[in-house]
Amino acid sequence: MYRTTTCGALRSNNIGSVVTLSGWVQKIRDKGFMIWIDLRDRYGITQLIFDEDRTPKEIMESAKNLGREYVIQVTGKVIERASKNPAIPTGDIEILVTELIVLNHAKTPPFTIENETDGGEDLRMKYRYLDIRRNPVKENLIFRHRVTLEVRKYLSNEGFIEVETPYLIKSTPEGARDFVVPSRMNAGQFYALPQSPQTFKQLLMVGGMDKYFQIVKCFRDEDLRADRQPEFTQIDCEMAFVEQEDVLNTFEGLTKHLLKEIKGVTVEKFPRMTYDEAMQRYGNDKPDIRFGMEFGELNDVAQHKNFNVFNSAELVVGIAVPGGNKYSRKEIDKLIDWVKRPQVGALGMVYVRCNEDGSYKSSVDKFYDQDDLTKWAEKTGANAGDLICVLSGEKDTVRAQLSALRMELAERLGLRNPNVFAPLWVVDFPLLEWDEETQRYHAMHHPFTSPKPEQIPLLKTNPGAVKANAYDLVLNGNEIGGGSIRIHNKQTQAMMFDYLGFTPEEAKEQFGFLMNAFEYGAPPHGGIAFGLDRLVAILGGQETIRDFIAFPKNNSGRDVMIDAPAKIDQEQLKELHLKIEN
Ligand code: AMO
Repeated sequence: MYRTTTCGALRSNNIGSVVTLSGWVQKIRDKGFMIWIDLRDRYGITQLIFDEDRTPKEIMESAKNLGREYVIQVTGKVIERASKNPAIPTGDIEILVTELIVLNHAKTPPFTIENETDGGEDLRMKYRYLDIRRNPVKENLIFRHRVTLEVRKYLSNEGFIEVETPYLIKSTPEGARDFVVPSRMNAGQFYALPQSPQTFKQLLMVGGMDKYFQIVKCFRDEDLRADRQPEFTQIDCEMAFVEQEDVLNTFEGLTKHLLKEIKGVTVEKFPRMTYDEAMQRYGNDKPDIRFGMEFGELNDVAQHKNFNVFNSAELVVGIAVPGGNKYSRKEIDKLIDWVKRPQVGALGMVYVRCNEDGSYKSSVDKFYDQDDLTKWAEKTGANAGDLICVLSGEKDTVRAQLSALRMELAERLGLRNPNVFAPLWVVDFPLLEWDEETQRYHAMHHPFTSPKPEQIPLLKTNPGAVKANAYDLVLNGNEIGGGSIRIHNKQTQAMMFDYLGFTPEEAKEQFGFLMNAFEYGAPPHGGIAFGLDRLVAILGGQETIRDFIAFPKNNSGRDVMIDAPAKIDQEQLKELHLKIEN
């Protein structure tokens, strides 16, 4: 038997008992006549003591030869510690070791395996198995397990059935590129890894499963960011005989359950906002509503005053930065440089200082008097002591720029408190999105999303204005889930494919299976998918999903530990009917 208990279990009421522990040597303090070792396993750290007077000589000797991260087994008596450590749960006791077995040697690890480490990101990724030994990473994985368990519990209780769908499929158009897998048995043909199980879950509804969910890996070949991985996990769900309201209520229930069980936070009814309203008030379809700084549109009060920059702009819009009047000229100049960075791309920024005495001082005083600026302050909700920041330009562009500034300032002002949870449903997304590159409309969500039925006629005259029964769940400024009510009738689906530029042949080629299924009695249905990695990270108070994934990829999509992707040999290529041009 390797152990009678773990390194996290012993307390002062165990004093006197003889125990066996196994684990890793985290730290050694060797005073010659006395040696202390911190022994670590998943459950905690227990201090071992080897004492010249009380420990057998040969054990003392072998303790002197131990190194960091050696795997050992010890037996000894639980005794009271002379100097207690209140920082750890086992801090009242230590083990006076009488037997020691070295189970395995270890090379000196490339970074210290403690809560605070000296290892850089790349090094820790390369030795991820060592990083996982560290508390912060280990805790994140355990946290993820708790969330997944609660998800399964909640959905099962609500009557959802977990069904697995295949990974080797034909591409589902979700907007990103597919990862493809060549077929050995079918020369020149490829599977695609699913970007999501979208079509399969719809087929499960045709199959009468009624309520489906799956915690499932999805694959998207897209540019990576802190909140994106090429393979990530969804909590994928679908329900039959539902309207949008039913889906929102069900998954608001799931989210509330998670907030309560995992964070002990109770949230009342989640606010809802239309896509148009979110864009107008926050310049963003996933607004962080933990703080204000709402947009004030200033066209009415800032145009036609001889300031050409504003006169020629489609939109003039500002935000009030709380307490921002205390910024020095130099700090404001730095802010202007920040919005002019290529990543944000503004051409400049106009600002107004709101003085404590109620007067205003702007960077465009030549064009605007106190009355004008009073109106700006009203529109942006600025108070004395604030700073109004104003950008102008083409509507969509300027909204994105001001939204970036709003988030940056909120971060600097400490308004993005990770312990506050502000969920929000964004509803009524546009059905279609114009793509400049291809000069065509694309489905904003995916081609299976139902237009609002009363707006179908608008598709002919003003396709961009048609809204969909599509919704996103936003948590603290992050899109954690998205879904829609689906089209369940063959004619409407065929019409959608037509609007999206598919010829009837292409539609049949790619989605014939779904269209066929719709001929055999498809129930009305709809669903949602949560990004599990994002959800877990945000519940954990962070936004980098990598920290909550056991073996993540780096920003170039590489797994630096196993060194993938990698070349394959000629034989394998031949078998797969592939030829690589050099
Ligand atoms: P969507 O594309 O919105 O919808 O994806 C659902 C959720 O998955 C998460 N997500 C990601 N997380 C990490 N890395 C990525 N690369 C990544 N891409 C997406 C997001 C997102 O909200 N089939 C539809 C769902 C439906 O209609 O039911 C779908 O996949 O949190």
